[in-house]
Amino acid sequence: KLMKVYITRRIPPEGMKILSSATGVCEVSMWDSDEPVPRTELLKGVQGAHGLLCMLSDKIDAELLDAAGPNLKVISTMSVGFDHLVLDAIKKRGIRVGYTPDVLTDATAELTVALLLATARRLPEGVEAVKNGDWTSWKPLMLCGYGLSGSTVGVIGLGRIGMAIARRLMPFGVKRLLYSGRTTKADAAEVSGEFVPLDTLVSESDFIVVSCSLTPETQGLCDKAFFSKMKNTAVFINSSRGAVVNQEDLYEALTSGQIAAAGLDVTTPEPLPTNHPLLTLNNCVVLPHIGSATYSTRGVMAALSARNLLEGLQGGEMPSELAF
Ligand code: GLV
Ligand code: GLV
Repeated sequence: KLMKVYITRRIPPEGMKILSSATGVCEVSMWDSDEPVPRTELLKGVQGAHGLLCMLSDKIDAELLDAAGPNLKVISTMSVGFDHLVLDAIKKRGIRVGYTPDVLTDATAELTVALLLATARRLPEGVEAVKNGDWTSWKPLMLCGYGLSGSTVGVIGLGRIGMAIARRLMPFGVKRLLYSGRTTKADAAEVSGEFVPLDTLVSESDFIVVSCSLTPETQGLCDKAFFSKMKNTAVFINSSRGAVVNQEDLYEALTSGQIAAAGLDVTTPEPLPTNHPLLTLNNCVVLPHIGSATYSTRGVMAALSARNLLEGLQGGEMPSELAF
């Protein structure tokens, strides 16, 4: 008998191809849209499913698992982050989880470097000035920003992605690379990374890059006290999860001159409402969570999610199973 699979979104063809070639294994139903599935539809759609392929915008909690029922044995998320999965509830039901680490590391690191440079060198303001006629002449201090050469960069969370960001930043002439987190990392030697207490990282860095996962420990980590320790000339970048930052405190730090600028690829909520105070600021660059958004990376993520799902359904070895 065919196992039931529910997919919460239209996914790239690389993933669909793998699932549709597994005709003897499962039958697939899908929320056939680029928009997120409404919660009520999701709760209906998962009923009786053996496998679920979801996105980072789908909250997978006890309510959803109960709606799915006892068949459910594998959840495959098309993301490296898994803060949207309530792991206790999943574990209690003996459900396996697949995710997509590694395949998006390069794309996300590239985006983070692009965001850092765009924020520090004020590219969005420059583009705007050219379009609206504010570019009236070359001026010695027009749109001056901050450069990486000779700077100190602090990476919060030197994991796979943090390390890939650090590797890309060093050739810009970074003088010191600081990092903080739970433990020292053997990889850090490659970028001459110095493991320091968070306070030291915050007060000594010219650029702070947040690249940690969202956990109870990192939730709200970047708050008023954090920003108050930063240099007035420092630039803050977050490409991990929005909830690591207290956005009211960030807004205050950006408007009071406590810090120079911020670049965010992630916010709370997502999408950020267009009337959000942060969007009124010239020194805040907000992107719509596009860290892994290259055609090839999203294709590979979809394929990996599909393979994780199929192996999980058949009790095989998943290419990327989350250990929890
Ligand atoms: C992106 O944020 C992901 O978790 O894949
Ligand atoms: C800049 O274009 C310069 O020539 O200094």
